[in-house]
Amino acid sequence: MNKTFQTLGEFIIENQSEFAYSSGELSRLINSIRLAAKVVNHEVNKAGLVDITGAAGDTNIQGEDQQKLDVYANERFIQTLTNREIVCGIASEENDDFITIEGHNEDHQNKYVVLIDPLDGSSNIDVNVSVGTIFSIYRRVTKSGTPVTIDDFLQKGNQQVAAGYIVYGTSTMIVYTTGHGVNGFTLNPAIGTYYLSHPNMKFPEDGHIYSINEGNYIQFPQGVKDYIKYCQEETEDGERPYTSRYIGSLVSDIHRNMIKGGIYIYPETSKAPNGKLRLLYECNPMAFLAEQAGGKASNGYQRIMDIQPTELHQRVPFFCGSKNMVTKAEEFMAKSS
Ligand code: AHG
Ligand code: MN
Ligand code: MN
Ligand code: MN
Repeated sequence: MNKTFQTLGEFIIENQSEFAYSSGELSRLINSIRLAAKVVNHEVNKAGLVDITGAAGDTNIQGEDQQKLDVYANERFIQTLTNREIVCGIASEENDDFITIEGHNEDHQNKYVVLIDPLDGSSNIDVNVSVGTIFSIYRRVTKSGTPVTIDDFLQKGNQQVAAGYIVYGTSTMIVYTTGHGVNGFTLNPAIGTYYLSHPNMKFPEDGHIYSINEGNYIQFPQGVKDYIKYCQEETEDGERPYTSRYIGSLVSDIHRNMIKGGIYIYPETSKAPNGKLRLLYECNPMAFLAEQAGGKASNGYQRIMDIQPTELHQRVPFFCGSKNMVTKAEEFMAKSS
């Protein structure tokens, strides 16, 4: 490295006072996420060499075939957070129900709940394409000293105290927010340290990339079809047509668009009336990051973070990215509804 970067450890200590309730607990929580991410990263990097690719043989609550790495990553994150006894509950895309953690003296005193998509984009594992992890952190709302309840998990996204993702890409990065902007840290695998490589990340207000699974085109609502046509139209000023880029890993698609400017859409379809992405594990954390980076996230009509969740595994249509692009897509949705 030819530049001196701050490490993630130093950054957490330096910015601890910015945290809403600064007892050091949230710092420790983020510390354990970065540790679990290192372990998962090590395993992801070995995919293809050891017997970690392919299906695990089970179906999860989402109706998806679990991949071996889905199971591995889920266990690692849950184990790390449970062992360190810093959260009072965990909900995961891969678990039917939330997990209650009693805490150090079995007294349910820990303040935070974590919601997690342990391995995002798992269909990309076997073909050596980037995958990720997404996490979302809230303060519990029920009384301390009692076991967590479903109400602690069904909070609106606007109550998040922190959220982030890890992208296991050409390099491994952790990108997170505690409500004071978004910062990205790159792992130096030789020494196992993350460095602040992307301070104060911002979505460009406009972009030239649209990311959507166009294989579902026929099933899209008219507003989305019209917006795609708009993206593809040639304009005299050379602003359009936009470029289509879709990896099929939400983390990687959002990460690219945050750096380059773009919009990600997973709309409702005739077969999946609520879309595919999960409000609590995918959309809310990405929405928090997007807004903190000057971007926007909506379900086509309404701000994602204002939606009151009613179920743990709830799905929601998702429009996320550069502010002006999301606003334009919403205009098309409003026109056709
Ligand atoms: P996960 O691997 O956590 O189940 O998430 C998959 C999601 C998301 O990563 C991606 O953007 C989307 O599914 C892709 O879905 P399609 O294959 O339907 O486009
Ligand atoms: Mn899945
Ligand atoms: Mn996912
Ligand atoms: Mn997943």
